[in-house]
Amino acid sequence: MALDRKTPNDLNAFWMPFTANRQFKKSPRMFVAAKDMHYTTSDGRQVLDGTAGLWCCNAGHCRPKITEAIQKQAAELDYAPAFQMGHPIAFELANRLIDIAPEGMEHVFYTNSGSESVETALKLAIAYHRARGDGARTRLIGRERGYHGVNFGGISVGGIVTNRKVFGPMLAGVDHLPHTHLPAQNAFSKGQPEHGAHLADDLERIVALHGAETIAAVIVEPMAGSTGVLLPPKGYLQKLREITKKHGILLIFDEVITGFGRLGSAFAGQHYGVTPDLMTTAKGLTNGVIPMGAVMCTKDVHDAFMNGPEHMIELFHGYTYSGNPIASAAGIATLDTYREEGLFERAAEMAPYWQEALHSLKGTRHVIDIRNEGLIGAVELEPIAGEPTKRAFSAFLKAYEKGILIRTTGDIIAMSPPLIIEKEHIDQLIGTLKEVLDTLD
Ligand SMILES: Cc1ncc(COP(=O)(O)O)c(C=O)c1O
Repeated sequence: MALDRKTPNDLNAFWMPFTANRQFKKSPRMFVAAKDMHYTTSDGRQVLDGTAGLWCCNAGHCRPKITEAIQKQAAELDYAPAFQMGHPIAFELANRLIDIAPEGMEHVFYTNSGSESVETALKLAIAYHRARGDGARTRLIGRERGYHGVNFGGISVGGIVTNRKVFGPMLAGVDHLPHTHLPAQNAFSKGQPEHGAHLADDLERIVALHGAETIAAVIVEPMAGSTGVLLPPKGYLQKLREITKKHGILLIFDEVITGFGRLGSAFAGQHYGVTPDLMTTAKGLTNGVIPMGAVMCTKDVHDAFMNGPEHMIELFHGYTYSGNPIASAAGIATLDTYREEGLFERAAEMAPYWQEALHSLKGTRHVIDIRNEGLIGAVELEPIAGEPTKRAFSAFLKAYEKGILIRTTGDIIAMSPPLIIEKEHIDQLIGTLKEVLDTLD
């Protein structure tokens, strides 16, 4: 059944983000509604959401509690100034976040996106050292293949080449750890791979090269998502934690996609048993419904700023929409939904079924690796010689035609379904993907 809101007749004005605009506008793919695990397309088809939108709708779509909270808040207090004024609901959400965060996280700084959370965390790290009289610590260490959003700090510490190479020199004083992808040893690992903890030792080389006294922070995704799901080898994150601690370097976990249950715990920090000094979040914080991000940090980081005359602003940083009332209401209703439905635990319970279903694709045409953790999975395809990304993009288009939404990055298919997924949805997702791969050139 066709819906009222059809494809608009002029698609020209909207320059779409991270999209092949010319291809899309010749052959648009439009969603006009969503409910729970499914999108409805403009031509009335149901598409199973294998990606939780963009790794963000962890509780599924159009969840009543979240919708109602937004409607109510919009009618009651739509906006309040974020600077020098407060409103109760932003404080309530901060407390609720601290309740579920890894132990030691005690403060929350609001942003509006993952990219802004990253910029905030990087700035906090540099300013923290300066506040402690250690102002030479300004270097930031990221990792090859890392994704930390699209702003200048984020692309500087990030390591996805296409996101960096056309944007000039970026931040000075940045270095990168090697990525953790070792297909020769780890291909088709189920969960965390065995090999590669030693890659964290490269931080000692970077410290020796630059001097620990010049390094402010190391930022990594505990599990790298956007680059195509690269898991931390066993022991790797623990080593990073040890080395950063030893040298007085802050450790930032970018939990923008791993946060809010994706790996079966509230955050990856708890899942892997490693607590950073700062964590960046967004996406699942409001179930993707209203833009919002949050940086969480330890008491030590926060308290370093809390000095000087009391009438003085301690940190000259913030956003007009930091802790926006409607976003805060969405955040609280989202956390309620996660808790009432036990969705983080549910992700952990479904993970073994998800893992076996995914790995059943081993041996399917073009598949050269499969990786998984929690409710995340990646299927890496052999690229077409001389035409990188084309095979996976064809898979994405065919999958959409066949009623499943997957995501591709390079020649990797990444999936991260809502945590409400049922076994029959997993069967449909993986079964359809197999059909797609079987018919691909
Ligand atoms: C780890 C990580 N950091 C930052 C971001 C950027 O978030 P946003 O698109 O909300 O700016 C993303 C988005 O996918 C991400 O995966």
